[in-house]
Amino acid sequence: MDTVVLSLGGSILVRDEDNSQYVQDLAGMLVEVSGTTRIFVVTGGGRIARYYIREGRALGAPESFLDEMGIDVTRLNARLLIAALGEHSNHTPPKDYKDAVLAAKHNRIVVMGGVSPGITTDAVSSILAEHVGALRVVNATSVDGVYTADPAKDPSAKRIPKMSHADLLGIVSATPSKAGPTMVFDATGASVLSRTGIPLSVVDGRDIPNLRLALEGKAFEGTSVG
Ligand code: UTP
Repeated sequence: MDTVVLSLGGSILVRDEDNSQYVQDLAGMLVEVSGTTRIFVVTGGGRIARYYIREGRALGAPESFLDEMGIDVTRLNARLLIAALGEHSNHTPPKDYKDAVLAAKHNRIVVMGGVSPGITTDAVSSILAEHVGALRVVNATSVDGVYTADPAKDPSAKRIPKMSHADLLGIVSATPSKAGPTMVFDATGASVLSRTGIPLSVVDGRDIPNLRLALEGKAFEGTSVG
């Protein structure tokens, strides 16, 4: 059975408005896709993680402590998706790659958060993809692909439909590595994928049918890296 890893941005899973219908629809789609594909979902921390990291930093906590708070939030977000998946997924988010592999013995869908300080869930997704021999990583985020510049700041920014791993590395490697940065995909994840050659699909996770196409390896709107 094919395996894919979904890096699900915290900004998708946790929003300002009531989001339970989205989470329910996402879970329904994942259950359908899991009929033919094993899915590992790694949930990000989003604004809740950023809140704790910002407040903790203001209180003088060291970066590694802030990372641990971020990891806690990613695991809490994992539980939100698990709540919607019910019997279709694991019950408790695995804390490392080995436990994720074990959880997959009993579940077609495994949901987890972060693993260790100093990285982000994009990197976790990429390392996990290597562990489980995934066909691809899908990054579901709140922009619809990789752009030539930040589309929120530069109206002339253009979406890049297809690029190589080296191109992606060039774009993301300038990102700082303090706790809580925001970037379409993080540099460590990009470099892990580059060395293994595992393709990456970047999609707007709010568009569930399009996300499904990406998970199934079909043509989708977004950016294909590989
Ligand atoms: P995210 O993976 O959500 O990181 O983890 P991010 O890129 O900052 O957030 P988005 O994608 O823009 O919303 C949140 C924070 O949790 C810590 C890091 O501090 C990260 O910034 N974290 C997460 C870890 O230290 N290790 C992990 O394995 C995962």
